[in-house]
Amino acid sequence: MSTPSAISPESPWWRQATVYQIYPRSFADSDGDGLGDLQGIISHADYLADLGVDAVWLSPFYPSELADGGYDVIDYRDVDPRLGTLADFDQMVEVLHAHGINLVVDIVPNHTSNKHVWFQEALVAGRGSAARERYIFREGKGEDGSLPPSDWVSVFGGPAWTRVEDGQWFLHLFASEQPDLNWDNREVRDEFLKTLKFWSDRGVDGFRIDVAHALTKDLSEPLPSWETLQAMPTASGDHPLFDRDEVQDIYAEWRELFNSYDPPRTAVAEAWVDSSRVPRYASPSSLGQAFNFDLLEADFAADQFASIIRHNLALAERSGSSSTWVLSNHDVVRHATRYGLPNPARKPGHWQPDERHGHRWLLSGGKEPALEREQGLRRARAATMLILGLPGSTYLYQGEELGLHEVAEIPAEERQDPTFFRTGRAEIGRDGCRVPLPWQAEGVSFGFGDASPHLPQPAWFAEHAASEGGKAETLSLYRRALNLRRRLQTEESLEWVDRGDPDVLHLRRPNGWEIITNFGSAPVALSDDEAARIVLRSDPDAAAGAEASTAGTSLPGETTVWLSPTK
Ligand code: BGC
Repeated sequence: MSTPSAISPESPWWRQATVYQIYPRSFADSDGDGLGDLQGIISHADYLADLGVDAVWLSPFYPSELADGGYDVIDYRDVDPRLGTLADFDQMVEVLHAHGINLVVDIVPNHTSNKHVWFQEALVAGRGSAARERYIFREGKGEDGSLPPSDWVSVFGGPAWTRVEDGQWFLHLFASEQPDLNWDNREVRDEFLKTLKFWSDRGVDGFRIDVAHALTKDLSEPLPSWETLQAMPTASGDHPLFDRDEVQDIYAEWRELFNSYDPPRTAVAEAWVDSSRVPRYASPSSLGQAFNFDLLEADFAADQFASIIRHNLALAERSGSSSTWVLSNHDVVRHATRYGLPNPARKPGHWQPDERHGHRWLLSGGKEPALEREQGLRRARAATMLILGLPGSTYLYQGEELGLHEVAEIPAEERQDPTFFRTGRAEIGRDGCRVPLPWQAEGVSFGFGDASPHLPQPAWFAEHAASEGGKAETLSLYRRALNLRRRLQTEESLEWVDRGDPDVLHLRRPNGWEIITNFGSAPVALSDDEAARIVLRSDPDAAAGAEASTAGTSLPGETTVWLSPTK
């Protein structure tokens, strides 16, 4: 790799952070209504601090009718009363900060909820009104306008246009309860600046920007057909819907606002764009960081990991940002499960316009293909320990530290994801990674709260409880790794060590820390010196925190080890 760049004490906190994603309605329920809430987070601040995370990314906690798990926001500057109040929010910020944990909140700018006051006004105000100009309304086609303006399909399935009472149609790239905003309208831009300021003033440290690549659109007539749209190159900067060059004007304005704070507020883009264009979002004059989702598409294979790591470190260098690493989040099948399924079922299942009818959500409700639970988890631990050793920030998703698998066995009548309903139940959706966490091995909701949780937990959650036994060894592994990581992440670079084995990745950080991952199934030999320097092993066979001598001189299959610089 390139010349080592030392991390100065002034280096912004987010460059090498471990960020823990909380999906608030499924984290911890303090008031027994079956939904997680802000007090539930506050009461787990010690847990988060013990785990060793640098920041929490909080998925939407705003008032919402939950047509899309909270990504249908009714009021951007308030808290869902079922989750708490603004006073609870302030307390949460204070408590997290007191524990040394920063807070990143989710901002959903592409669309509002259809219950947002603006959309309600637009419905009443009628065609041609200023209220409708905040959204994307069009006349329909056909003699009486009863056909949608185009044949576009929404990301969750079904048409992307819905007709309102007076006959006009509105665009929604997602569910019909999520009308798209019109970002050509100055009022929309000002409103979001106000929202970003509102939360920044309340002490929020950063923002995760939902669907950051879709805000600006070219909807000039005639609208292209869905087929034409899908065939258009997305890396050109002038695709009608995605990753248009001018979306950066919005983020330049946001950056100005972020930089008016001390320390500057951070932002990370959720931008599903061609990787050549990721630096645009990650540059210091834009949002500053962007998610790298490449590992979500990768098999547990050394060559794939190696090329993704090289590629993304190079991209980060181009943008002046640090790379991000992600194996799980609230939109994809948990990585322990992906790695326990045969190809191609282990694909993550996130939407992409060209994947709509492809491999999405092949997890089959617990029947076929069979899930190799232990192997999946073993590989997941190895992969996580590898990415935690890389320069850049790692985003962890709640529950992965408990070794959780995707919950496949959710009955149809209890499913919530709009994907399930909008595809006529053909795609099972994302509920399986959003099931409330098991904090204890027993109780009505495994310690999540005092009532039945909003999504049903399977009996096997008992084995994963944070409090004891079973997979708590995964929790110990994460704790130990995050703790050691603070010593390892002193410089933002690495060099590769060639071991001459295509199944093994070996990398060395400039401060002497080394990470070795064996992606194969057969053990590989380690030198005596290497064996003596092992401070962390990902395999469940090693007691958490096992010292070098217990590891022997070989590295088992599907295992990562960390070597400290000295014995
Ligand atoms: C979020 C999803 C959400 C969608 C629409 C995504 O990027 O991560 O959970 O359904 O945006 O807001």
